[in-house]
Amino acid sequence: MAQAAVSIETEGGIATVTLSNPPVNALNQAIREGLAEAVARIEADPAIRGAVLCGAGGSFIAGADIREFGQPPQDPSLPDVVRMLDAATKPWVAAIEGVALGGGLEVALGCSHRVAAPGARLGLPEVSLGIIPGAGGTVLLPRLIAADKALGMIAGGKPVSARDAAEMGLVDRVVPGDVHEAARALALEAAEAGIPAPLMKRAVCPPANVEAYEAQKASIRKTARGQISPIAAIEAVERSLALDAEAAFRAEREAFVSLRDSTQSAALRRVFFAERSVSQLDTAQGATPRRLDRIGVLGGGTMGAGIAAACLLAGLGVAIVERDDQRAALARCRVLGILDDSAGRGLLSPEARQAAEAALTVATHFAPLAECDLIIEAVFEDMDVKKAVFAELDAVTRPDAILASNTSYLDIDEIAAGTTDPSRVIGLHFFSPAHVMKLLELIVTREAAPDVLATGLALGKRLRKITVPAGVCDGFIGNRIMARYRREADYMLEDGALPEQIDAAMRDFGFPMGVFQMADLAGLDIGWAMRKRQATTRDPSERHVEIADRICEIGRLGRKTGRGWYDYTQDKSGRPDPWVTELIEAESARKGITRQSFDAGQIMHRILTVMQEEGTALLSEGITASPEAIDVVMINGFGFPRWRGGPMFMMDSEP
Ligand code: CAA
Ligand code: NAI
Repeated sequence: MAQAAVSIETEGGIATVTLSNPPVNALNQAIREGLAEAVARIEADPAIRGAVLCGAGGSFIAGADIREFGQPPQDPSLPDVVRMLDAATKPWVAAIEGVALGGGLEVALGCSHRVAAPGARLGLPEVSLGIIPGAGGTVLLPRLIAADKALGMIAGGKPVSARDAAEMGLVDRVVPGDVHEAARALALEAAEAGIPAPLMKRAVCPPANVEAYEAQKASIRKTARGQISPIAAIEAVERSLALDAEAAFRAEREAFVSLRDSTQSAALRRVFFAERSVSQLDTAQGATPRRLDRIGVLGGGTMGAGIAAACLLAGLGVAIVERDDQRAALARCRVLGILDDSAGRGLLSPEARQAAEAALTVATHFAPLAECDLIIEAVFEDMDVKKAVFAELDAVTRPDAILASNTSYLDIDEIAAGTTDPSRVIGLHFFSPAHVMKLLELIVTREAAPDVLATGLALGKRLRKITVPAGVCDGFIGNRIMARYRREADYMLEDGALPEQIDAAMRDFGFPMGVFQMADLAGLDIGWAMRKRQATTRDPSERHVEIADRICEIGRLGRKTGRGWYDYTQDKSGRPDPWVTELIEAESARKGITRQSFDAGQIMHRILTVMQEEGTALLSEGITASPEAIDVVMINGFGFPRWRGGPMFMMDSEP
């Protein structure tokens, strides 16, 4: 029998109220209604002295039901339920396991006490959905913890651990054992000793450090770069400090409703759900993934080492194969460096660090790959080299092992065709640094077997990546769009813009850096080599900009050589270089182009237009079936500002 949305069991004068809405106990209408009834019933029942509030299924509450946003409101509202809890005269102890997020934390704030399991995470992530808390979070939290800490949680959106929550006074107890039992004990104690005043009746807790608070606000304003919800979060906390609780509560709700109805929030909600649904692939539906215990990585360079580290961090065994002893040693060093870094950040315990090292083998011969379930090739980006190594892989690997290429641009169908069983060949296109970047493109080759594709998806899940399926084409989804807007940026250089203007326009739009900064960071030699390869087949009538080649020819290869599009010799963040300006102007003159000025809006219009054109082409060619997939790739792989929803969302949402 299905569990009721809200159930109450009373024992020894303490009611246990359990909320159930799998998978994450989101606060939908049934839960809100049931909880409101429970509060009223417990207040009215003289036999009940207090209550424990918990979530079914091992987690408290993940927040409001985001699917209900955009639908007509249904009573009772969450703010009303939180107010009922806050005003209750009997103790309510939130027993927090798993997550207490958004409206879930607001419900916990409505309770008189909070007890958390050590692994619990508590937060107000609303800003990441383009909104601010809408059920009193910005009013209640700064009445429980110092306003600077509250602002950090509300405007930053990052959940905190139970221990940090206890340190800032957000939870009363962190208990390693049975959280429900501990909550019950606290409810009984509070029933004897009495409960603290409702948060709505308390004064705000001023910032612990006023200077730090001001600096925090300045930093949030600076990094928001056009996103409205972090700024609204600052305003809400400021109102909480300035106004009485009732007025601040009303103002919060108004701000929440207006943000909820904004394009930014619609964009962020769409991204939230797209990231969770985009990996669905009809051809893999129902297929059982093959075994995935040991991964082979061919080539231990930048990508191979990162991929190997990502697999080790996910608890998989890894065998790397390199060309010679020296490169093998270097590859091992790179991987161990990443593991050490992860351990240093507390992401890996010393024992797990040791276990990961023990699970790594590095060799200069293919023999260890015979043991592997899936082999990822990450050697040089050259069709002949790739074909040669796939022929070797074909010979040494188990027939049921999956062969994947990490190629950025090459035709994997052509690579697969050179093997005896193309049905076991796919693309797994990671992004650099592979152990950090969330995005993985799964390249669906013409003959890939359904269970091979299902295994690719399973690996993505195991590595906690967002896996986006894409068909075979030059650059797949992300690099193909990137190549197109990169080319457009080059056209703009010849037409009258400078790299620093284009980069500034992209940063103002919300990208973390512009295309030329990014190229300098990655190294200009990669693109140069590709252009040289393409030179023989390039259509002579196609517009070709030679500025980047001129820059590379004199050894300016980006940051690593001190100069590229920018000069890094004086300032490591890079300064515009008059030599580059002269070169660009000379190239325009050589081609007889009259340079015109561009403003940021015109620059972004041209960049967005080509992104959208290329996205539309990808859809019409069937490389991907969904505009959402394109947006998820651009956001997670190329720094497209999340709150703008992606180029395809913008195409549909803007006039
Ligand atoms: N509403 C509706 N559905 C939700 C949801 C929510 N708040 N949170 C998660 N889900 C759904 C997901 O879409 C997913 O559905 P499918 O299985 O159909 O794809 C399912 O729950 C499981 O989610 P995940 O795949 O993300 O599972 P996870 O274990 O990796 O993460 C989580 C769980 C940490 C709760 C994560 O889902 C999460 O961060 N959720 C959003 C939390 C949030 O933003 N809460 C604030 C909501 S806004 C609010 O509360 C405003 C207010 O004050 C009124
Ligand atoms: P890299 O030059 O850093 O590493 C390539 C490694 O492969 C070298 O260490 C080399 O010794 C090794 N190698 C070459 N031939 C080999 C062979 N026959 N057997 C064993 N090892 C061999 O190159 P990088 O950047 O790691 O790229 C590798 C692949 O990943 C390329 O196809 C590239 O297009 C792709 N890629 C690169 C990204 C990047 O940002 N660098 C991003 C995504 C994909």
